[in-house]
Amino acid sequence: MYVLNTWYVAAWSNEVDRKPVKRVICEQPLVLFRTQNGTPVALADRCAHRAFPLSAGRTIGDSIECGYHGFTYGEDGMCTKVPAQSTIPERAKVRKYPLVEKDGWIWAWMGDAAAADPADVPDTHWMNDPEWATVTHSVPFACRAELIHDNLLDLTHESFLHKTTVGDDYIYEHGITVEVEGSVVSVDRLMPSVEAPPLYADTMNARGLFDRFHCTEFFVPNLHVLHSGITGEGKPRAEGYLIKVLNGITPIDAHNSWYYYAFSRNFAVDDAQATEDLRVGLETVLREDAEALEAQEIGMQSRPAGEFDVLIAQDGGVAKARRILSTLIKREQAAVADRSAAGARA
Ligand code: FES
Ligand SMILES: [Fe+2]
Repeated sequence: MYVLNTWYVAAWSNEVDRKPVKRVICEQPLVLFRTQNGTPVALADRCAHRAFPLSAGRTIGDSIECGYHGFTYGEDGMCTKVPAQSTIPERAKVRKYPLVEKDGWIWAWMGDAAAADPADVPDTHWMNDPEWATVTHSVPFACRAELIHDNLLDLTHESFLHKTTVGDDYIYEHGITVEVEGSVVSVDRLMPSVEAPPLYADTMNARGLFDRFHCTEFFVPNLHVLHSGITGEGKPRAEGYLIKVLNGITPIDAHNSWYYYAFSRNFAVDDAQATEDLRVGLETVLREDAEALEAQEIGMQSRPAGEFDVLIAQDGGVAKARRILSTLIKREQAAVADRSAAGARA
């Protein structure tokens, strides 16, 4: 169902403090908290004693105490105290998940801890760069993560779903270029000599015609970086008004996902009113997406077996990303099967 050997956004940095926070990622419940020196910790949110959620307990020093019978676990997940007796059973421990905190996000590694490499956390530096101004949102989507991936890889939906904010007919009228490098799929669309999208035109003070572009870079399976903007007709993209939309997509379960969203811009950076207007406008865009994808999820669940999507040329990136996602999942499942077969032989 899920790629586990990857970094998923688990929370915004400012959501995690001393008070335990619960998150479910790929059907695995986690409790997040910070130690006294501010280091974030993620443990399985299930006490080894009788499965009470540790997130309903409290932190004491660098440890977390279960709120049911007081088993206490260190930041490594090992039980250090059982109040009702002096000995600690060997199996009294919970799983610890590797974390990386970077640019305002806390990323969790859900698979084999030995394979976790912090260098694999994607680049999101725009969120923390004074040359860029950032608006953020996080929204639970009542749909499977795959529908959000498809949504971001086929932006022709903007022409219909987001007519008043970022959409315009000219989007679906222009074709795409799809490239694949390793497990990164890029879908690029150039729209020459068009007006700026309604939501940005005022903020950019952009009147007249421009070359508009958007390139979705999907780091399968956890992050889409949308490089977007407008520039003068025939001018290089780098000279234009640039936007980086960071979309951290984290599966909760088969029918629910977390959508961590950051919109960074290199124009009107110190304009507080522009930031507020964009915050409100982008909230509308996300709500439109959330409602559409929830309806689509319901449609998917009622679809008869044997009935499949009808993909078109604009779905070139969707098709490539689905293939990569499926390969990554199969590869992980084969490795797990090999390990258990080797274990059974030993
Ligand atoms: S369930 Fe946690 S101490 Fe009993
Ligand atoms: Fe959308």
